[in-house]
Amino acid sequence: MRRKALAVVICGLLGVLGTAVVAEPAHASAPLRTHAAERGKLIGTAVATSQLSNEAQYRDTAAREFNAVTAENAMKWDATEPSRGQFSFGGADQVMAFAQANNQVVHGHTLVWHSQTPGWVQSLDATQLRAATQTHINTVVGRYAGRIAAWDVVNEVFEENGTLRNSFWLQRLGSGYIAEAFRLARAADPTAKLYINDYNVEGQNAKSNAMYTLVRDLRAQGVPIDGVGLQSHLAIQFGFPSDLQQNIQRFANLGVDVKITELDVRMQLPSDATKLATQATYYRNVVDACLAVARCVGVTIWGFTDRYSWVPDTFPGQGAALPYNENYNQKPAYTAVHDALDDGGGPVDTTPPSTPGTPVASNATLSSITLNWPPSTDNVGVAGYDVHRALGSGAFAVVGTPASNTFTDTGLAAGTIYRYFVRARDAALNRSADSATITATTQPGGPPPPPPGNCRVVHTVSNWGGSNGFTASLAVTNTGTAPITNWTLAFAYTAGQRLTPPGWSATWTQNGSIVIATPLDWNRTINPGATINIGFNGTHTGANPTPTTHSINGGNCTTM
Ligand code: G3I
Repeated sequence: MRRKALAVVICGLLGVLGTAVVAEPAHASAPLRTHAAERGKLIGTAVATSQLSNEAQYRDTAAREFNAVTAENAMKWDATEPSRGQFSFGGADQVMAFAQANNQVVHGHTLVWHSQTPGWVQSLDATQLRAATQTHINTVVGRYAGRIAAWDVVNEVFEENGTLRNSFWLQRLGSGYIAEAFRLARAADPTAKLYINDYNVEGQNAKSNAMYTLVRDLRAQGVPIDGVGLQSHLAIQFGFPSDLQQNIQRFANLGVDVKITELDVRMQLPSDATKLATQATYYRNVVDACLAVARCVGVTIWGFTDRYSWVPDTFPGQGAALPYNENYNQKPAYTAVHDALDDGGGPVDTTPPSTPGTPVASNATLSSITLNWPPSTDNVGVAGYDVHRALGSGAFAVVGTPASNTFTDTGLAAGTIYRYFVRARDAALNRSADSATITATTQPGGPPPPPPGNCRVVHTVSNWGGSNGFTASLAVTNTGTAPITNWTLAFAYTAGQRLTPPGWSATWTQNGSIVIATPLDWNRTINPGATINIGFNGTHTGANPTPTTHSINGGNCTTM
């Protein structure tokens, strides 16, 4: 007999979003997330921002049943950077806020994909595409660093026969774009698990074999791949991939996590009781397969109600793919997922992690503070930490959920005292006692001390054929160990070149021969190892030598 979990989940941000207290219902009819947490697994759903905004029943169901969410569209390139350098995070922030208010883990989807990537990206040449990818990954992943558990770094990179997809990425950059994307994502958020994600790879076939080989080889080369996403868009008319569990296990044996990232099971409409029963067995089999492999971290369903599903738009005449019908009634598929998660009978983990050690603040800048703390231990394993922050004597709010014992809190006010404590949590969402509370202060206003030598500038000049115009692209990397904040980049022109305002991704000015760039809000801080891409158009007469000396905040950078 399984013990009844007594957990009362306190969600929401105290003093910021208000406090929500959700008492758990009777255990047998408890929501999916209660059972999943007891099994140490995630049960997730994709969420759509317009439904989150407009429908209480949608919000309530997503919050009640799932302990993980993926933005169905809001974190894709066309949503986050529709024009070059113009980032738009409304939808992505909305999903983050929903997840935080409901104590849900966020799976980021997706960074490099051939689809839903704006036309401006697809029309870039190789150099520009590389630079734009760097900016995109730095900016998007950096924005949510410490708060997104995992990212689909590359999505759908294979053809069905196992060759690399002949996408504009491959055509422009060659196969190296995959490793490069993972390295950029790791630099932008060292705590997020980095996934490769694809469809039709649930069973062992040419495509999943190619995925297996690629993951194995890239890991052998030191490329930071932590996870494999099996999308699992299944259809009852095509049969169940009976070797799913073996397939999950062989990826796990490579030392990576595995996640079912986009589960749905469609059918020819109209649905009937027989089809719905078959569908339920598919759902059950997928959850059972994940439960059977320790490194399968969970199952995310691609939406939850048939009211909103991508299926009928893409496969006319098919649908009914999700566990709730269009009126939010639970279907046999819901019961199947619920029972799979509930009937394991295994031991329930009720032991919380040990209390984390006292946090130590370091690297305070004008707007950020880095915390490190001695890690907790746990009988099963520490899944992550919740970092709580208060301003002055105010209430504490969770500001980060890193997977390991370090976190950089950003967006802070200069010269301000903050208080912090951390809690550890395990996969069953048992939480430790609070660490000691510490105070830390951001640097007072005024220019930060110069970091001489802690920067590298790759300055690329492309002259426009047949005219006196040119484009200058600068990739600026922080090669030091401390963030560079409120930077001023300067270099000199020696041949009378003139900047044509406004340039992009920085505020550009020219005074005589000296060109100055200062940051925009979104790239005010360059974290150690991170690169920002800035540039402008200009004019020249005759020779157009590339500047060989650049400085940031008075310190000279390496120039390449
Ligand atoms: O929001 C606009 C709306 O304003 C407009 O009127 C309407 C007209 O077509 O389009 C709406 O945008 C649609 C968007 O979904 C939101 O509904 C896009 O056209 C449509 O292309 C987009 O489809 C998404 C699809 O990815 C794009 O490829 C689906 O919602 C989404 O479920 C689907 O998800 C993918 C995963 O990202 C990757 N794996 C496969 C999976 C299913 O295709």
